[in-house]
Amino acid sequence: MSSTVEIKTRTIRQIRERKGGEPVVCLTAYTTPIAEILDPIVDLILVGDSMANVILGHANTLPVTLDDMIVHAKAVSRVVKQACLIFDMPFGSYEESPEQALRNSVRVLKETGCVGVKLEGGRYLAETIAYLTTRGVPVMGHIGMLPHYVNQRGFAVRGRTNAESDEVLQDAIAIDEAGVFSTVLEAVAEPLARNITKTVANVTIGIGASSACDGQIVVTEDILGLTAKTPSFVKRYAELRDLITEAIKHYDADVRGRRYPADEHTYTLTGKGRREP
Ligand code: KIV
Repeated sequence: MSSTVEIKTRTIRQIRERKGGEPVVCLTAYTTPIAEILDPIVDLILVGDSMANVILGHANTLPVTLDDMIVHAKAVSRVVKQACLIFDMPFGSYEESPEQALRNSVRVLKETGCVGVKLEGGRYLAETIAYLTTRGVPVMGHIGMLPHYVNQRGFAVRGRTNAESDEVLQDAIAIDEAGVFSTVLEAVAEPLARNITKTVANVTIGIGASSACDGQIVVTEDILGLTAKTPSFVKRYAELRDLITEAIKHYDADVRGRRYPADEHTYTLTGKGRREP
């Protein structure tokens, strides 16, 4: 096991200090080229387990393994110099016991250079979160719509009834008291997101949870228009699928028409007249 821990410029403490201030800008990254582009711009990068759907082609996040995630987190970490880098613990890697969560989180921090972990779950995870945070592992919580519960609850928006709002608020308070530095609120109705943000001491990060949160996160490939379908809360800032399709069609036409490679892309015997690598 190799250990590559490097302290990043934007620390957990700096993220914490943004409570109620300038919104915290977060995005996901699973690969080096995307991480390299995001790093100088955003505050926090999450190596999300959405990698299961976005990169590995699964229908949901459940199949991705801790080992898969660690490989990608290392790739991201190699180029991240400024952003606060957080690792999303995949399904099955932390729910069994506080000890399992600590063992796997410590492995993640040692091997990947991420500075904290994200755990999905409400009240029932408070004990685990306290166990980690009192032992030096910064934790980002994740409540509201929980992708790990897709087989039980689907992808329904949370907080549209009083009873449900109370439940999610109780989750938010329990994990806040357990010591999370931040909480992702996923697919939560605006009044509930506002109430949680006002109630808890940690920084709330919304994904489909309105502008009432202390910051925002989305899946990078969604806002770039790389994923075929995106949820309704996503604003697509580019249409990379169309751009890439056009580029590939040009390449295809050039190869078939023998226009690529041209002379300038060809190594000659002497190297004269062109730049050698
Ligand atoms: O896996 C993920 O990408 C997430 C979101 C909060 C963006 O958990």
